[in-house]
Amino acid sequence: MTDLPTVALLGTGAMGAGMARNLAAAGIDLRVWNRTPERAAPLADVATVAATPAEAVAGADVLLTMLYDADSVLEVVSGLGDAIAPGTTWLQQSTIGVAGTNQAIALAEELGLVLVDAPVLGTRKPAEDGTLTVLASGPDEVADHVAPLLDAIGSRTLWLGPAGAGTRLKLAANAWVLTVVEGLAESLALTRDLGLDPALFLDAVQGSAVDAPYLRLKGEAMLSGALDPSFALSGAVKDADLILAAARAAGTELAVLPGVREHLARGVEAGHGDRDMAATYLAH
Ligand SMILES: NC(=O)c1ccc[n+]([C@@H]2O[C@H](COP(=O)([O-])OP(=O)(O)OC[C@H]3O[C@@H](n4cnc5c(N)ncnc54)[C@H](OP(=O)(O)O)[C@@H]3O)[C@@H](O)[C@H]2O)c1
Repeated sequence: MTDLPTVALLGTGAMGAGMARNLAAAGIDLRVWNRTPERAAPLADVATVAATPAEAVAGADVLLTMLYDADSVLEVVSGLGDAIAPGTTWLQQSTIGVAGTNQAIALAEELGLVLVDAPVLGTRKPAEDGTLTVLASGPDEVADHVAPLLDAIGSRTLWLGPAGAGTRLKLAANAWVLTVVEGLAESLALTRDLGLDPALFLDAVQGSAVDAPYLRLKGEAMLSGALDPSFALSGAVKDADLILAAARAAGTELAVLPGVREHLARGVEAGHGDRDMAATYLAH
């Protein structure tokens, strides 16, 4: 137990809050900070709630960031100054794309931090259940150090090589997720507009090779309007932009994603940005 690292987790949103509870349940000494204090306060039963990022990281062995995007991650970590000791491991788990991760690599070098780029697959419920899949990348030497943390928040960790590899695989996985969500919204809209009950689409594919648990989950949310965010639509647009930027830089022609991005953004423009990404259906 005493060998477990002390962790400072910055960002107790939809994902960070569940991750925090699982870290604490694994016996890890945890400090948490969130920009909006009301979102961190409910964690006071399992963690020390810090008033500032600097207070959270003082004396911590591992800094864990689960913030919204590259700008928020880079702003918060660069603002730590002397509060964070050189040699501290920085477990960066937010989805910040290739360019953002390159900036994080440079910032880690500047501050003397050991960066582990480790975005996750899974959404709010797997974060609460500790069943995320972690796409970890960074120096082999720190794998054992962070293993108890990754085991606490996920059911599977893939170690992928130097920092940056995790983020690249995350973008490929998210391209799939966004394509499925938008494709599902289109099939439901098409069923409806062809004069049928849209639920018939879900009935038609049920149990077949083209069915999927995710189709049921998101399809039922689309049809029932139960759109509390597991992953907000605005975040889906952010990720679509990260995927498109990475593909452009890699020279990959993506036929589907530009249209997916346009439809997701239409949902945000219609005022659904804070609802679950299944709200893209409302803009069809
Ligand atoms: N939800 C998912 O299904 C899912 C799955 C995998 C990965 N991710 C990724 O995980 C990360 C967190 O996602 P989430 O769903 O937990 O998002 P969320 O609920 O919107 O939480 C975002 C967090 O970032 C903070 N934040 C935003 N802008 C900030 C700024 N300028 N300065 C400081 N803090 C800032 C928020 O603080 P406030 O509370 O003050 O706004 C909150 O703590 C994102 O990168 C997301 O893409 C999400």
